[in-house]
Amino acid sequence: MGKKIFSGVQPTGNLHLGNYLGAIKNFVDLNNDNDNKCIFCVVDLHAITIKQDPKELKNNIRETVATFIASGIDPKKSIIFNQSGVAAHAEGAWILSCIARMGWLNRMTQFKEKAGKDKEKASIGLYSYPVLMASDILLYDATHVPVGDDQKQHLELCRDIAQKFNNDFEVENFLQVPEPLIQKEFSRIMSLKDGSKKMSKSELSDLSRINLTDDKDQIINKIKKAKTDPLSMPKDIKELDKRLEAKNLLGIYSSLTNSKLQNSVTNFAGKNFSEFKEKLSEELVNKIEPISNEIKKLLGDERYLDKILLDGVEKANLIASKKIERIKEIVGF
Ligand code: AMP
Ligand code: TRP
Repeated sequence: MGKKIFSGVQPTGNLHLGNYLGAIKNFVDLNNDNDNKCIFCVVDLHAITIKQDPKELKNNIRETVATFIASGIDPKKSIIFNQSGVAAHAEGAWILSCIARMGWLNRMTQFKEKAGKDKEKASIGLYSYPVLMASDILLYDATHVPVGDDQKQHLELCRDIAQKFNNDFEVENFLQVPEPLIQKEFSRIMSLKDGSKKMSKSELSDLSRINLTDDKDQIINKIKKAKTDPLSMPKDIKELDKRLEAKNLLGIYSSLTNSKLQNSVTNFAGKNFSEFKEKLSEELVNKIEPISNEIKKLLGDERYLDKILLDGVEKANLIASKKIERIKEIVGF
């Protein structure tokens, strides 16, 4: 049976290899399966949970659309739209925030990480953002949600919210309880500078990540400078638990070449890192350079990108507005 897919990416700039291998690559495979109905959302309402420059935000929204298309998502097959264009997302989030419990949200580790030491100064939106994410998903009766490993907890919360809504209002199966689609391996790509930290858009050092807009020279340079350890390449997969940088680089290589981590370890066992890094750069350039070129080309045609969003908003609105009307009836409005 075909799946109903929904996923979102924040337009906060610097989309990187972690976004690609953890999420977007999966979107493309799902989009290519004709049995699936896919919706990919540029979640601009989520982006403003942290202060954004309005001009940059607008550019980043276009860049996210360009990245989707350059990576291989076909806007004729999948709906691509921006969240703020469909009012039902914010409306649904309010209603669901009256279903979700404080205790549930208090457990969210991403809030703790993003809010940092001074929680009192974090926006309320940053705290309640997983409820908005639940609204995104539940409005479209999504059966499957492809995300990277860091979103697992938010998806569990979404499932809890859907179940509580269905129970509280005695509407069995009204809100579809979605399944996460998280890759078993390589679902968390780490920083090139620190194998214990997630590769992230917000990391200060650009050398910590491969951006999807990087050119060949930048990619080669970043891999050359990527942190390793003084030993030669691991001979046994067990060593990787203690050699996080080697684990991450071998993971990236395996994901790019669609091979098992064990095979990659065997391939390079005992060799110098420099030899491995050359091969890794080659794979990265082959994969990322065409995407990077295409993003740059698409960014030159703002009207095309805006038209895709407008069409997407129209299609998404047809689905979401029906669902929110039913939700309001059920609640008693
Ligand atoms: P975001 O840019 O935070 O909106 O994330 C978009 C998608 O990329 C989500 O599905 C994330 O789980 C995924 N993602 C972000 N960073 C990483 C990473 N370092 N490794 C794997 N997946 C990631
Ligand atoms: N919270 C997700 C992130 O930061 C983005 C997101 C928003 C999302 N709404 C979603 C992902 C719905 C999947 C489904 O990466």
